[in-house]
Amino acid sequence: MYPLLRSLLFLLDAETSHEVTMAALRLYGALPAFQPGLPPGTSRAAGEATRQVMGMSFAHPVGLAAGLDKDARAVEGLARLGFSFVEVGTVTPKPQPGNPRPRLFRVPEASALINRMGFNNLGMVEMSRRLEALRRRDRLGSTRVGINVGKNKDTPLDVASQDYTACMKTLYPYADYLTLNLSSPNTPGLRTLQSGDALAALLERIKDCQAKLATQHGRRVPVLLKVAPDLAGEDLEIIARQLVAFEIDGIIATNTTISRPGLQSHPLAGQAGGLSGSPLLPLALDVVGQLRQLLGPDVPVIGVGGIMNAEDGRAMLARGADLLQIYTGLIYRGPALVRALSRLPPEGGHAEKVSVDS
Ligand SMILES: Cc1cc2nc3c(=O)[nH]c(=O)nc-3n(C[C@H](O)[C@H](O)[C@H](O)COP(=O)(O)O)c2cc1C
Repeated sequence: MYPLLRSLLFLLDAETSHEVTMAALRLYGALPAFQPGLPPGTSRAAGEATRQVMGMSFAHPVGLAAGLDKDARAVEGLARLGFSFVEVGTVTPKPQPGNPRPRLFRVPEASALINRMGFNNLGMVEMSRRLEALRRRDRLGSTRVGINVGKNKDTPLDVASQDYTACMKTLYPYADYLTLNLSSPNTPGLRTLQSGDALAALLERIKDCQAKLATQHGRRVPVLLKVAPDLAGEDLEIIARQLVAFEIDGIIATNTTISRPGLQSHPLAGQAGGLSGSPLLPLALDVVGQLRQLLGPDVPVIGVGGIMNAEDGRAMLARGADLLQIYTGLIYRGPALVRALSRLPPEGGHAEKVSVDS
């Protein structure tokens, strides 16, 4: 079924096909009676394993990566595809249009995408309005919602923390976890926030904000960092050290790459932006493996980048990821990929396996 749908969608340019898909997912989510958080046709028998990560239980390891549902348009439809968690965003304080089109390109020969969307989104207030409505409808079942936050393009880097904390304050009540996106290649200078003193200064403000919000709301929402796959070993060491020092709750590795592995002579290789999909997998596996070594067994790691089949997912869990996310794999393989990954056993990862009954 999906190969046929994909052939039709691929007749459209990549961004139009994205819009059509999101509209369809919105409708799908509005249909009555479904069991969100589990792929259709799957049932969770009593006693079957769930995963306990960041103090929360997840029905299975696979979630949706940020960027597909930037404005929380279709969370219920995505839950209905069976994701155990859906990360919405990147959202910024003010709405912004992103880069001019075209800004999303398919590279089907490599099961890859190149994008330079540039954080197009409707802003944090609209996002909070939608998530509030979503909460009132209460149709997400066990599906968790992560909110990925970023800075507006015109916010100077030295005050970037204000954008992150503004989003945290507005969106905190609706988040199961929050992700600080420091790694998009499409916002000029953003990735410099991953390094050294800039990172320490940012994390100090974020931790302070998180502590105040936890007191105010009587609930502690985990905060994670999302990092790039293009970091050198010493950069990763610094990030890992600061992650531990500031007691950040976890890390998502990785975002898209500015490199073009295996695609150097491809006509689209020269398009500016981040590459995702199959060519990214070796880089993402490497970063997840290094982070697990640096962080030890206890810090949650979400592995993302180029997971296109169960084998890739297994490899990511074996490198030490507790949970997985996909984006490009969903475009090329469809919802069957969610089902295949949802069946992966926890071994290899570091998530605590718990019984649903416990
Ligand atoms: C079109 C597109 C838009 C994206 N937008 C975001 C974003 O807004 N925030 C973010 O953190 N990651 C974004 N990503 C990165 C994905 O979340 C993911 O980290 C990356 O694509 C690697 O995973 P994949 O190979 O499974 O796609 C985007 C990716 C794509 C393809």
